[in-house]
Amino acid sequence: MSHAESFALTGRRGGPLRGRARVPGDKSISHRALILGALAVGETRITGLLEGEDVINTAKAMQALGAAVLRDHAGVWSVRGVGVGGFATPAGALDFGNSGTGCRLVLGAVAGCPIVAEFDGDASLRGRPMRRVLEPLERIGARALVAAEGGRLPLRLEGARDPIPIVYESPVASAQLKSAVLLAGLAAPGETIVIEREATRDHTERMLGHFGAKVQVAPHGEDGRRITLTGQPELTPAPVAVPADPSSAAFPLVAALIVPGSELILEGVMTNALRTGLFTTLIEMGAEIELLDRRDTGEEVADLRIHASALRGVDVPADRAPTMIDEYPVLAVAASFADGVTRMRGLKELRVKESDRLAATAAMLRVNGVEVEIDGDDLIVQGRGRAAGGGTVATHMDHRIAMSALVMGLASEKPVAVDDAAFIATSFPGFVELMRGLGAELS
Ligand code: S3P
Repeated sequence: MSHAESFALTGRRGGPLRGRARVPGDKSISHRALILGALAVGETRITGLLEGEDVINTAKAMQALGAAVLRDHAGVWSVRGVGVGGFATPAGALDFGNSGTGCRLVLGAVAGCPIVAEFDGDASLRGRPMRRVLEPLERIGARALVAAEGGRLPLRLEGARDPIPIVYESPVASAQLKSAVLLAGLAAPGETIVIEREATRDHTERMLGHFGAKVQVAPHGEDGRRITLTGQPELTPAPVAVPADPSSAAFPLVAALIVPGSELILEGVMTNALRTGLFTTLIEMGAEIELLDRRDTGEEVADLRIHASALRGVDVPADRAPTMIDEYPVLAVAASFADGVTRMRGLKELRVKESDRLAATAAMLRVNGVEVEIDGDDLIVQGRGRAAGGGTVATHMDHRIAMSALVMGLASEKPVAVDDAAFIATSFPGFVELMRGLGAELS
Protein backbone atom coordinates (compact mmCIF):
# COMPACT_ATOMS: atom_id res chain seq x y z
CA MET A 1 0.00 0.00 0.00
CA SER A 2 1.33 3.41 -0.84
CA HIS A 3 1.95 5.72 2.03
CA ALA A 4 1.02 9.30 2.58
CA GLU A 5 4.02 11.56 2.05
CA SER A 6 6.34 11.55 4.99
CA PHE A 7 6.17 14.60 7.21
CA ALA A 8 8.03 15.85 10.26
CA LEU A 9 6.23 16.71 13.50
CA THR A 10 7.24 18.28 16.81
CA GLY A 11 5.94 17.87 20.35
CA ARG A 12 6.50 20.73 22.78
CA ARG A 13 5.71 21.68 26.34
CA GLY A 14 2.41 23.39 27.01
CA GLY A 15 -0.33 23.31 29.61
CA PRO A 16 -1.72 20.18 31.28
CA LEU A 17 -3.62 17.54 29.31
CA ARG A 18 -7.26 17.37 30.27
CA GLY A 19 -10.49 15.80 29.11
CA ARG A 20 -11.92 12.50 27.92
CA ALA A 21 -11.07 10.58 24.81
CA ARG A 22 -11.50 7.19 23.20
CA VAL A 23 -8.53 5.86 21.30
CA PRO A 24 -9.21 3.77 18.16
CA GLY A 25 -10.10 0.07 18.16
CA ASP A 26 -7.65 -2.63 19.10
CA LYS A 27 -5.36 -3.55 16.23
CA SER A 28 -4.96 -7.22 17.14
CA ILE A 29 -8.70 -7.79 17.45
CA SER A 30 -9.45 -5.81 14.28
CA HIS A 31 -7.16 -8.01 12.13
CA ARG A 32 -8.62 -11.16 13.63
CA ALA A 33 -12.24 -10.02 13.24
CA LEU A 34 -11.70 -9.53 9.50
CA ILE A 35 -9.85 -12.82 9.03
CA LEU A 36 -12.28 -14.94 11.06
CA GLY A 37 -15.20 -13.16 9.39
CA ALA A 38 -13.70 -14.14 6.03
CA LEU A 39 -13.42 -17.78 7.16
CA ALA A 40 -16.98 -17.97 8.51
CA VAL A 41 -20.00 -18.90 6.43
CA GLY A 42 -22.34 -15.91 6.33
CA GLU A 43 -22.10 -12.31 7.45
CA THR A 44 -20.07 -11.01 10.39
CA ARG A 45 -20.72 -7.50 11.65
CA ILE A 46 -17.81 -5.62 13.23
CA THR A 47 -18.18 -2.40 15.19
CA GLY A 48 -15.34 -0.19 16.35
CA LEU A 49 -12.92 -1.59 13.75
CA LEU A 50 -9.57 0.18 13.70
CA GLU A 51 -9.42 1.99 10.38
CA GLY A 52 -5.64 2.25 10.37
CA GLU A 53 -3.56 1.34 7.33
CA ASP A 54 -2.45 -2.02 8.78
CA VAL A 55 -6.02 -3.23 9.22
CA ILE A 56 -7.22 -1.78 5.90
CA ASN A 57 -4.52 -3.87 4.21
CA THR A 58 -5.89 -6.99 5.91
CA ALA A 59 -9.42 -6.04 4.76
CA LYS A 60 -8.12 -5.74 1.18
CA ALA A 61 -6.36 -9.10 1.47
CA MET A 62 -9.60 -10.76 2.65
CA GLN A 63 -11.38 -9.28 -0.35
CA ALA A 64 -8.65 -10.45 -2.72
CA LEU A 65 -9.03 -13.96 -1.26
CA GLY A 66 -12.76 -14.03 -2.05
CA ALA A 67 -14.59 -12.59 0.99
CA ALA A 68 -16.93 -9.62 0.58
CA VAL A 69 -15.79 -6.84 2.89
CA LEU A 70 -17.95 -3.75 3.20
CA ARG A 71 -17.61 -0.54 5.21
CA ASP A 72 -21.10 0.50 6.28
CA HIS A 73 -19.97 3.62 8.10
CA ALA A 74 -17.15 4.77 10.35
CA GLY A 75 -15.87 1.71 12.25
CA VAL A 76 -18.81 -0.47 11.21
CA TRP A 77 -17.91 -3.16 8.73
CA SER A 78 -19.44 -6.38 7.48
CA VAL A 79 -17.65 -9.41 6.11
CA ARG A 80 -19.31 -12.17 4.12
CA GLY A 81 -17.02 -15.14 4.50
CA VAL A 82 -16.15 -18.08 2.28
CA GLY A 83 -15.79 -20.80 4.93
CA VAL A 84 -12.73 -22.62 6.30
CA GLY A 85 -10.48 -23.71 3.42
CA GLY A 86 -12.53 -21.64 0.97
CA PHE A 87 -10.12 -18.88 -0.06
CA ALA A 88 -9.63 -18.33 -3.81
CA THR A 89 -6.29 -17.60 -5.51
CA PRO A 90 -5.91 -13.80 -5.50
CA ALA A 91 -5.35 -11.93 -8.77
CA GLY A 92 -2.30 -9.99 -7.57
CA ALA A 93 0.16 -9.88 -4.69
CA LEU A 94 -1.28 -9.29 -1.20
CA ASP A 95 0.35 -6.12 0.12
CA PHE A 96 0.48 -5.88 3.91
CA GLY A 97 2.23 -2.52 4.00
CA ASN A 98 3.88 -2.11 7.42
CA SER A 99 1.98 -4.89 9.20
CA GLY A 100 3.70 -7.99 10.56
CA THR A 101 0.47 -9.08 12.23
CA GLY A 102 -1.64 -8.88 9.06
CA CYS A 103 1.01 -10.68 7.03
CA ARG A 104 1.74 -13.49 9.47
CA LEU A 105 -1.89 -14.19 10.34
CA VAL A 106 -2.91 -14.31 6.69
CA LEU A 107 0.07 -16.56 5.88
CA GLY A 108 -1.46 -18.96 8.38
CA ALA A 109 -4.98 -18.63 7.02
CA VAL A 110 -3.77 -19.22 3.43
CA ALA A 111 -1.51 -22.13 4.41
CA GLY A 112 -4.53 -24.38 4.96
CA CYS A 113 -6.10 -23.63 1.54
CA PRO A 114 -5.17 -25.23 -1.80
CA ILE A 115 -4.25 -21.90 -3.42
CA VAL A 116 -1.14 -19.90 -4.25
CA ALA A 117 -0.67 -16.33 -3.01
CA GLU A 118 2.12 -13.77 -3.10
CA PHE A 119 2.86 -11.80 0.05
CA ASP A 120 4.61 -8.45 0.13
CA GLY A 121 4.99 -5.34 2.25
CA ASP A 122 6.92 -2.12 2.69
CA ALA A 123 10.66 -1.81 3.34
CA SER A 124 10.17 -2.29 7.09
CA LEU A 125 8.09 -5.47 6.66
CA ARG A 126 10.49 -6.79 3.99
CA GLY A 127 13.19 -6.65 6.65
CA ARG A 128 11.32 -8.74 9.24
CA PRO A 129 11.78 -12.47 9.85
CA MET A 130 9.18 -14.75 8.26
CA ARG A 131 11.09 -18.04 8.54
CA ARG A 132 9.75 -18.47 12.08
CA VAL A 133 6.21 -18.71 10.72
CA LEU A 134 7.00 -20.53 7.46
CA GLU A 135 8.65 -23.36 9.35
CA PRO A 136 5.48 -24.66 11.11
CA LEU A 137 3.31 -23.83 8.08
CA GLU A 138 5.53 -26.09 5.95
CA ARG A 139 5.06 -28.86 8.50
CA ILE A 140 1.31 -28.44 8.03
CA GLY A 141 1.87 -28.99 4.29
CA ALA A 142 2.24 -25.52 2.79
CA ARG A 143 5.24 -24.68 0.59
CA ALA A 144 6.99 -21.33 0.55
CA LEU A 145 8.95 -20.02 -2.37
CA VAL A 146 11.22 -17.33 -1.08
CA ALA A 147 13.82 -15.54 -3.14
CA ALA A 148 15.14 -13.28 -0.37
CA GLU A 149 17.49 -14.47 2.35
CA GLY A 150 16.16 -15.55 5.74
CA GLY A 151 12.63 -16.23 4.53
CA ARG A 152 11.83 -12.55 4.09
CA LEU A 153 9.21 -10.92 1.88
CA PRO A 154 8.32 -10.90 -0.94
CA LEU A 155 7.34 -14.57 -0.95
CA ARG A 156 4.94 -16.94 -2.61
CA LEU A 157 3.00 -19.40 -0.50
CA GLU A 158 1.42 -22.54 -1.87
CA GLY A 159 -1.22 -23.65 0.62
CA ALA A 160 -1.65 -27.30 1.61
CA ARG A 161 -3.99 -29.53 -0.38
CA ASP A 162 -4.28 -31.88 2.58
CA PRO A 163 -3.27 -29.92 5.66
CA ILE A 164 -1.81 -31.98 8.49
CA PRO A 165 -2.64 -31.23 12.14
CA ILE A 166 0.58 -30.65 14.08
CA VAL A 167 1.77 -30.30 17.64
CA TYR A 168 3.84 -27.14 17.70
CA GLU A 169 5.97 -25.91 20.55
CA SER A 170 6.69 -22.27 19.82
CA PRO A 171 10.37 -21.31 20.22
CA VAL A 172 9.51 -17.61 20.71
CA ALA A 173 6.83 -15.85 22.71
CA SER A 174 4.83 -14.60 19.73
CA ALA A 175 1.07 -14.32 19.41
CA GLN A 176 1.48 -13.87 15.67
CA LEU A 177 3.24 -17.20 15.33
CA LYS A 178 0.73 -18.99 17.56
CA SER A 179 -2.14 -17.46 15.60
CA ALA A 180 -0.69 -18.40 12.21
CA VAL A 181 -0.45 -22.05 13.26
CA LEU A 182 -3.99 -22.07 14.68
CA LEU A 183 -5.44 -20.43 11.58
CA ALA A 184 -3.70 -22.97 9.35
CA GLY A 185 -4.86 -25.76 11.67
CA LEU A 186 -8.49 -24.75 11.09
CA ALA A 187 -8.39 -26.52 7.74
CA ALA A 188 -6.66 -29.66 9.02
CA PRO A 189 -8.60 -32.70 10.24
CA GLY A 190 -8.07 -33.59 13.90
CA GLU A 191 -6.36 -31.59 16.62
CA THR A 192 -3.78 -28.87 16.09
CA ILE A 193 -1.90 -28.17 19.31
CA VAL A 194 0.19 -25.09 20.05
CA ILE A 195 2.32 -25.03 23.18
CA GLU A 196 3.72 -21.72 24.35
CA ARG A 197 6.20 -21.50 27.19
CA GLU A 198 5.07 -17.98 28.00
CA ALA A 199 1.46 -16.96 27.50
CA THR A 200 0.98 -14.31 24.81
CA ARG A 201 -2.13 -12.32 23.88
CA ASP A 202 -4.97 -14.83 23.53
CA HIS A 203 -7.31 -13.04 21.13
CA THR A 204 -7.11 -15.70 18.40
CA GLU A 205 -8.10 -18.57 20.66
CA ARG A 206 -10.86 -16.56 22.34
CA MET A 207 -12.25 -15.34 19.05
CA LEU A 208 -12.09 -18.80 17.45
CA GLY A 209 -14.33 -19.96 20.32
CA HIS A 210 -16.60 -16.96 19.72
CA PHE A 211 -16.97 -18.04 16.07
CA GLY A 212 -17.93 -21.57 17.11
CA ALA A 213 -14.66 -23.51 16.89
CA LYS A 214 -13.77 -25.99 19.61
CA VAL A 215 -10.69 -24.64 21.39
CA GLN A 216 -9.32 -25.82 24.73
CA VAL A 217 -6.73 -23.86 26.65
CA ALA A 218 -4.80 -25.52 29.49
CA PRO A 219 -1.89 -24.28 31.57
CA HIS A 220 1.57 -25.47 30.52
CA GLY A 221 4.44 -25.22 32.99
CA GLU A 222 4.68 -22.10 35.10
CA ASP A 223 3.72 -19.36 32.63
CA GLY A 224 2.76 -21.25 29.51
CA ARG A 225 -0.34 -22.57 27.80
CA ARG A 226 -1.36 -25.49 25.65
CA ILE A 227 -4.00 -24.63 23.06
CA THR A 228 -5.88 -27.45 21.35
CA LEU A 229 -7.97 -26.64 18.30
CA THR A 230 -10.31 -29.18 16.71
CA GLY A 231 -9.96 -28.73 12.96
CA GLN A 232 -12.49 -28.30 10.17
CA PRO A 233 -15.17 -26.54 12.17
CA GLU A 234 -17.90 -24.64 10.40
CA LEU A 235 -17.22 -21.13 11.65
CA THR A 236 -20.42 -19.24 12.25
CA PRO A 237 -20.55 -15.44 11.96
CA ALA A 238 -20.47 -13.71 15.31
CA PRO A 239 -20.68 -9.97 15.99
CA VAL A 240 -17.44 -8.38 17.15
CA ALA A 241 -17.35 -5.15 19.18
CA VAL A 242 -13.72 -4.01 19.07
CA PRO A 243 -12.61 -2.38 22.34
CA ALA A 244 -10.22 0.59 22.47
CA ASP A 245 -6.59 -0.47 21.99
CA PRO A 246 -4.54 -0.46 25.21
CA SER A 247 -1.37 -0.17 23.09
CA SER A 248 -2.70 3.10 21.62
CA ALA A 249 -4.07 4.31 24.98
CA ALA A 250 -0.47 4.02 26.22
CA PHE A 251 0.50 7.28 24.49
CA PRO A 252 -2.04 9.73 25.98
CA LEU A 253 -1.73 7.76 29.24
CA VAL A 254 2.02 8.31 29.59
CA ALA A 255 1.67 11.89 28.33
CA ALA A 256 -0.83 12.62 31.13
CA LEU A 257 1.48 11.08 33.73
CA ILE A 258 4.50 13.20 32.79
CA VAL A 259 2.87 16.55 31.96
CA PRO A 260 2.29 18.26 35.34
CA GLY A 261 -1.30 18.98 36.30
CA SER A 262 -2.85 16.61 33.75
CA GLU A 263 -6.02 14.63 34.35
CA LEU A 264 -7.55 12.42 31.68
CA ILE A 265 -10.18 9.78 31.18
CA LEU A 266 -9.61 7.23 28.42
CA GLU A 267 -12.83 5.39 27.64
CA GLY A 268 -13.47 1.70 27.00
CA VAL A 269 -9.85 0.52 27.03
CA MET A 270 -9.35 -3.24 26.83
CA THR A 271 -7.94 -4.66 30.07
CA ASN A 272 -7.28 -8.27 28.99
CA ALA A 273 -4.60 -9.39 31.46
CA LEU A 274 -2.29 -10.42 28.63
CA ARG A 275 -2.19 -6.82 27.42
CA THR A 276 -1.88 -4.78 30.59
CA GLY A 277 1.76 -5.17 31.59
CA LEU A 278 2.29 -1.45 31.02
CA PHE A 279 -0.46 -0.50 33.47
CA THR A 280 1.02 -2.85 36.09
CA THR A 281 4.50 -1.41 35.60
CA LEU A 282 3.39 2.22 35.69
CA ILE A 283 1.37 1.61 38.87
CA GLU A 284 4.50 0.07 40.43
CA MET A 285 6.34 3.25 39.40
CA GLY A 286 3.82 5.30 41.37
CA ALA A 287 1.38 6.25 38.60
CA GLU A 288 -2.11 7.25 39.62
CA ILE A 289 -4.24 5.16 37.26
CA GLU A 290 -7.75 4.10 38.24
CA LEU A 291 -9.83 1.54 36.38
CA LEU A 292 -13.43 2.76 36.44
CA ASP A 293 -16.63 1.04 35.38
CA ARG A 294 -15.03 -2.31 34.61
CA ARG A 295 -17.26 -4.28 32.27
CA ASP A 296 -17.25 -7.14 29.80
CA THR A 297 -18.04 -6.51 26.14
CA GLY A 298 -16.60 -9.83 24.91
CA GLU A 299 -13.27 -8.59 26.30
CA GLU A 300 -12.87 -6.85 29.65
CA VAL A 301 -12.76 -3.09 29.33
CA ALA A 302 -12.59 -0.13 31.70
CA ASP A 303 -12.39 3.63 31.63
CA LEU A 304 -8.94 4.73 32.78
CA ARG A 305 -8.63 7.82 34.96
CA ILE A 306 -5.07 9.13 34.95
CA HIS A 307 -3.51 11.89 37.04
CA ALA A 308 -0.06 13.37 36.49
CA SER A 309 2.21 11.51 38.93
CA ALA A 310 5.70 11.51 40.40
CA LEU A 311 7.26 8.29 39.07
CA ARG A 312 10.16 6.22 40.40
CA GLY A 313 12.43 3.79 38.56
CA VAL A 314 11.64 0.06 38.76
CA ASP A 315 12.95 -3.30 37.62
CA VAL A 316 10.65 -4.75 34.95
CA PRO A 317 10.91 -8.57 34.90
CA ALA A 318 11.49 -10.40 31.61
CA ASP A 319 8.41 -12.57 32.09
CA ARG A 320 6.22 -9.49 31.83
CA ALA A 321 7.46 -8.72 28.31
CA PRO A 322 4.75 -10.61 26.37
CA THR A 323 2.03 -8.56 28.10
CA MET A 324 3.55 -5.21 27.18
CA ILE A 325 5.74 -5.96 24.18
CA ASP A 326 4.57 -2.96 22.13
CA GLU A 327 4.73 -0.54 25.06
CA TYR A 328 8.47 -0.46 25.84
CA PRO A 329 9.27 2.66 23.79
CA VAL A 330 6.69 4.74 25.65
CA LEU A 331 7.59 3.10 28.97
CA ALA A 332 11.18 4.21 28.33
CA VAL A 333 9.85 7.76 27.97
CA ALA A 334 8.02 7.46 31.31
CA ALA A 335 11.22 6.02 32.84
CA SER A 336 13.18 9.10 31.70
CA PHE A 337 10.85 11.31 33.75
CA ALA A 338 10.97 8.99 36.77
CA ASP A 339 13.43 9.25 39.64
CA GLY A 340 16.00 6.49 39.57
CA VAL A 341 16.99 3.64 37.31
CA THR A 342 14.49 1.57 35.34
CA ARG A 343 15.76 -1.73 34.01
CA MET A 344 13.56 -3.45 31.42
CA ARG A 345 14.63 -7.05 31.06
CA GLY A 346 14.43 -9.57 28.25
CA LEU A 347 13.64 -7.37 25.24
CA LYS A 348 15.10 -9.58 22.52
CA GLU A 349 11.87 -9.61 20.49
CA LEU A 350 11.96 -5.81 20.26
CA ARG A 351 14.78 -6.13 17.76
CA VAL A 352 12.42 -7.60 15.14
CA LYS A 353 9.47 -5.22 15.35
CA GLU A 354 8.58 -2.52 12.78
CA SER A 355 12.15 -1.31 13.46
CA ASP A 356 14.92 -2.58 15.73
CA ARG A 357 12.92 -1.03 18.54
CA LEU A 358 15.52 -1.67 21.18
CA ALA A 359 18.12 0.39 19.30
CA ALA A 360 15.55 2.97 18.14
CA THR A 361 14.24 3.49 21.70
CA ALA A 362 17.75 3.96 23.12
CA ALA A 363 18.61 6.40 20.31
CA MET A 364 15.37 8.34 20.93
CA LEU A 365 16.29 8.90 24.58
CA ARG A 366 19.96 9.59 23.92
CA VAL A 367 19.33 12.30 21.33
CA ASN A 368 17.14 14.01 23.93
CA GLY A 369 19.74 14.02 26.67
CA VAL A 370 18.65 10.95 28.65
CA GLU A 371 21.29 8.49 29.82
CA VAL A 372 20.45 5.04 28.51
CA GLU A 373 22.24 1.76 27.99
CA ILE A 374 21.55 -1.55 26.28
CA ASP A 375 22.98 -4.44 28.27
CA GLY A 376 22.45 -7.71 26.41
CA ASP A 377 18.67 -7.80 25.94
CA ASP A 378 17.98 -5.29 28.72
CA LEU A 379 17.31 -1.59 28.41
CA ILE A 380 18.48 0.57 31.30
CA VAL A 381 17.23 4.14 31.66
CA GLN A 382 18.65 6.62 34.19
CA GLY A 383 15.60 8.56 35.27
CA ARG A 384 16.29 12.09 36.44
CA GLY A 385 12.74 13.40 36.64
CA ARG A 386 13.32 15.47 33.51
CA ALA A 387 14.58 15.30 29.93
CA ALA A 388 16.42 18.00 28.05
CA GLY A 389 14.75 17.30 24.71
CA GLY A 390 15.88 19.28 21.69
CA GLY A 391 16.56 16.21 19.54
CA THR A 392 15.20 14.98 16.24
CA VAL A 393 14.23 11.33 16.49
CA ALA A 394 14.70 8.93 13.57
CA THR A 395 11.49 6.88 13.48
CA HIS A 396 12.68 4.13 11.06
CA MET A 397 9.14 3.61 9.64
CA ASP A 398 7.96 2.76 13.16
CA HIS A 399 4.67 4.28 14.37
CA ARG A 400 5.35 3.57 18.03
CA ILE A 401 8.74 5.28 18.01
CA ALA A 402 7.11 8.32 16.39
CA MET A 403 4.31 8.56 18.98
CA SER A 404 6.66 7.91 21.92
CA ALA A 405 9.01 10.68 20.82
CA LEU A 406 6.16 13.17 20.44
CA VAL A 407 4.90 12.28 23.93
CA MET A 408 8.42 12.89 25.23
CA GLY A 409 8.41 16.36 23.67
CA LEU A 410 5.26 17.31 25.63
CA ALA A 411 7.24 17.23 28.89
CA SER A 412 10.85 17.90 27.81
CA GLU A 413 12.59 21.21 28.38
CA LYS A 414 13.07 21.72 24.64
CA PRO A 415 10.79 20.38 21.90
CA VAL A 416 11.27 16.90 20.43
CA ALA A 417 10.91 16.44 16.66
CA VAL A 418 10.35 13.27 14.65
CA ASP A 419 11.63 12.94 11.09
CA ASP A 420 8.52 11.13 9.84
CA ALA A 421 5.09 10.98 11.46
CA ALA A 422 3.32 9.36 8.48
CA PHE A 423 3.50 5.84 9.91
CA ILE A 424 1.36 6.82 12.90
CA ALA A 425 -1.58 6.22 10.54
CA THR A 426 -0.81 2.48 10.49
CA SER A 427 -2.21 2.00 14.00
CA PHE A 428 -3.54 5.29 15.37
CA PRO A 429 -5.35 7.38 12.78
CA GLY A 430 -6.34 10.70 14.35
CA PHE A 431 -3.50 10.61 16.91
CA VAL A 432 -2.53 14.24 16.36
CA GLU A 433 -6.12 15.52 16.53
CA LEU A 434 -6.92 13.43 19.62
CA MET A 435 -3.81 14.62 21.45
CA ARG A 436 -4.41 18.25 20.44
CA GLY A 437 -7.99 17.92 21.69
CA LEU A 438 -6.56 17.06 25.12
CA GLY A 439 -4.29 20.11 25.02
CA ALA A 440 -1.07 18.69 23.56
CA GLU A 441 1.14 21.00 21.52
CA LEU A 442 1.92 19.10 18.34
CA SER A 443 2.82 20.93 15.15
C1 S3P B 1 0.48 -9.02 17.82
C2 S3P B 1 1.51 -9.69 18.42
C3 S3P B 1 2.78 -9.05 18.80
C4 S3P B 1 2.70 -7.53 18.77
C5 S3P B 1 1.96 -7.02 17.56
C6 S3P B 1 0.54 -7.58 17.54
C7 S3P B 1 -0.74 -9.77 17.47
O1 S3P B 1 3.79 -9.48 17.90
O2 S3P B 1 3.98 -6.96 18.81
O3 S3P B 1 1.88 -5.62 17.55
O4 S3P B 1 -1.78 -9.13 17.17
O5 S3P B 1 -0.71 -11.00 17.51
P1 S3P B 1 4.62 -10.84 18.11
O6 S3P B 1 3.68 -11.96 18.01
O7 S3P B 1 5.64 -10.86 17.00
O8 S3P B 1 5.25 -10.67 19.47
